Formats: sequence, structure tokens, C-alpha cells
Amino acid sequence: MRKQVVIIGAGPSGLLLGRLLDLAGIDNVVLERQTQDYVLARIRAGILEQTTVDLIHRAEAGARLAEEGIKHHAMQLAFDYKAVSIDLSRHTNGKVVTAYGQTEVTRDLCEVRDNAGSATVYEADNVEIHDIDGDAPYVTYLKDGTGHRIDCDLIAGCDGYHGVSRRTVPESAITTYEKIYPFGWLGLLSDTRPVAQEVVYANTERGFALCSMRSMTRSRYYIQCDVDDKVENWSDDAFWDEFRRRLPPEMADALETGPSIEKSIAPLRSFVAEPMCFGRLMLAGDAAHVVPPTGAKGLNLAASDIHYMYDAILGFLQDRNAAALDEYSRRALARVWKAERFAWWLTTLTHRFNDDPFEQRMKEAELAYITTSDAGRQMVAENYVGLPL
Ligand code: APR
Ligand code: PHB
Repeated sequence: MRKQVVIIGAGPSGLLLGRLLDLAGIDNVVLERQTQDYVLARIRAGILEQTTVDLIHRAEAGARLAEEGIKHHAMQLAFDYKAVSIDLSRHTNGKVVTAYGQTEVTRDLCEVRDNAGSATVYEADNVEIHDIDGDAPYVTYLKDGTGHRIDCDLIAGCDGYHGVSRRTVPESAITTYEKIYPFGWLGLLSDTRPVAQEVVYANTERGFALCSMRSMTRSRYYIQCDVDDKVENWSDDAFWDEFRRRLPPEMADALETGPSIEKSIAPLRSFVAEPMCFGRLMLAGDAAHVVPPTGAKGLNLAASDIHYMYDAILGFLQDRNAAALDEYSRRALARVWKAERFAWWLTTLTHRFNDDPFEQRMKEAELAYITTSDAGRQMVAENYVGLPL
């Protein structure tokens, strides 16, 4: 079989790219290791930058997002058990973020792809990438025990942090940067009314807490926990008790609780691989970089990568511009590093992870500064809504 582009991974990066390429008439196939049900059951973050929303509309997958997405004109930072609202729109010429779960984004992209009849191979085992340095790369995989080979012009590695694409690149060709944080997030999803209309990031002496939502009747909450804690150690009641104790009093009083629909612990990591292009292989999304979830940049960075990658693929295939692929890496990384900085900064500022009283005072002073200075609020707002493409 021959395709112009082989896309590895049917997460949001791979599906968004596949759809944009379909609309541009570029022949592609998506190879995914898991089943579609598995892909659609993963719970991830849920705050979209406007550029992400725009891309989803460009992919003609935005109908439900337009109906059900909830626009947030502000976000809140809480410390000393007091919440301060940062007006996103005021500081960014009217920009907002939209609350809409990543799981739903993936579902909508799957649906448009399936309806268009585009090729997606789920449960593709043992995907291997070959000859990325030459003019004739190809990908092999097993499906139901039978071997297949797809010859192509380009390969898009959209297969997440644990995928095969980045591992295919020789170590000497890639530089990686990594920071592992000494704590995790325990998340709980429940059919309860959200305690706040906006996302709240709270720094307390008991550790960090986050209030978010999926709809006006579904809440998503998190608390900082030990990195090797186990979800079995947390009954729903234990979660709600601890969460309530980390909220400002008026929120704690208003908190509605209920049974969890999902509860899980995630580690926090910052990671970047440079460059993002190796001959005919380009990486996007979590395959190339990971952010800690504070600030909700993961999906948004995946979307901006795809915006740049799409330009590069068209430049390469239609305009015969060989430099377009390296240009992809340069453009994507420039935005990636700024989002990495913001996620690392907001994580450091809002979590407790060493007992140094001086550092704690510095965080309190910084929070007091950024919430009272116009320049400070603007820095938070323009990063939170997403830096320009
Ligand atoms: N072969 C085929 N598919 C694979 C392989 C492989 N060897 N390894 C991984 N995959 C698939 C995974 O099963 C997954 O469905 O690649 C997909 C990668 O999807 P994501 O991990 O969602 O990554 P991405 O599409 O880049 O989306 C980034 O997801 O993890 C969050 O915070 C992150 O929000 C960000 C977004
Ligand atoms: C979420 O809604 O799951 C969420 C929101 C904001 C974050 C992280 C996660 O920073």
C-alpha cells in the first residue's frame, strides 16, 4: 500500500492532522495501537485556547464544541484561602478559553474521520518506522497477526510520550530535557455542579487543589498527592474531605459532593525533545513534549504543533519546499518552550514540595504581586489564553 502521509497515533494530534490533510486532499492513514473504545475512554484535561477551538472548526469537527463548550472570561488563583480572579478578556483584547473535555474533542474528531470513511487501523501492533533518512520511508505493522507495509512520503509521529516514533530516532540525533516533579495529581470526576464558574488554582499549606468542570453539571477536581500514592488509598469521602479543606471557606461551604465517575493519579513531568523533525519523520504533541497539567497546555500545544506541521506537509508535498520540514521544528519549538515555561512556573508557584520557608514566602510574594499588578495579571492572562501562533 502507498499513502502520502502515515500518521502514528489516534490521539487528538493524529486525528486533527488526519482530518486537515483529508480536507486538503492529501492521502493519509492513521495507525493506532489501542482500540477506538480505549482511546475514547481516556480522561484528560479540558481547557481549550481559542487557536485550538479555531483549528477544530477548521477540521469541521466543531459543531458540538460550539453547542456545549463553556467560555471562561477569567481564571482564579487562590492563596491564603482567598481567591483572586484574573480577567482574561480584559488583559488580552477580549480573548477567552473554552471548557470542553479532551475526551470529547477526540470523540468529535473520530466521528468526522469515520464518517468521511478515511483509513484508520486500530489495534495495529508492532508499528515500526523505516528509512526516515532516505527518499522512500515506510512503516510496517501487524494487524491480527498479519504483516503490512505502507510506503509513504512523510511520517507523522503523533503517538504520545510512550510511542515508537521518538524511540526510532538515533540517540545522537536528539536532545531531551526533562524534569520530574516530586508529587502527583489525584483527580476526581463527578456529576455535581462545579463549585466555581471558572478554573481555580489553589495553593494551600495542605498542598495544591484545582477546581474545573466538564459542563454545568459535571465537575473535575484535583488535589496534589504523594507521587507514589495509590488511588485505592482514596475513598470518595476521603477525597472530598481533603479537597474541601484546601478551598477558600465560601467555596468549601458551597461544595456539592457525589460519587466519583472516575478517579486516578497522574505523575507530573516537563519534557522536551529537540528537534521535532528527523528526515521524513516529524513528531507532534506528547511524542515530542510533555507539560505538567497546571495551565492545561498539553492538548493546546498538540494542536499548535499540528497547525505548523500541516503547513510543512503542504509546503513539502505541494510546493516541493524541502526546507519546510526543518522549518516545522523551529516554529513548533519556539511556541513549545514558552508554554513549557508557563506550565513549569504555574506548577512551581501553586504546589508545596519542599519545606523551605524562604521559598514559600517567595511564592506568596509572587502570588501577591501578580494578582495585584496589572503587568502581572497580563502575563498570566496572555499565557493562559495561549500565545499567538
Ligand atoms: N503504535 C501506534 N499507536 C501508538 C503507539 C504505537 N507504538 N504508541 C502509542 N500510540 C497511540 C496511543 O495509544 C494514543 O492513542 O498514540 C496515541 C497518542 O495520543 P495522546 O497520548 O493523546 O497524544 P497526543 O495526540 O499528542 O495528544 C496530546 O494528550 O496526553 C495528553 O496532555 C496531553 O493533552 C495532551 C494530549
Ligand atoms: C481539567 O479540566 O481537567 C483541567 C483544567 C485546568 C488544568 C488542568 C486540568 O490546568
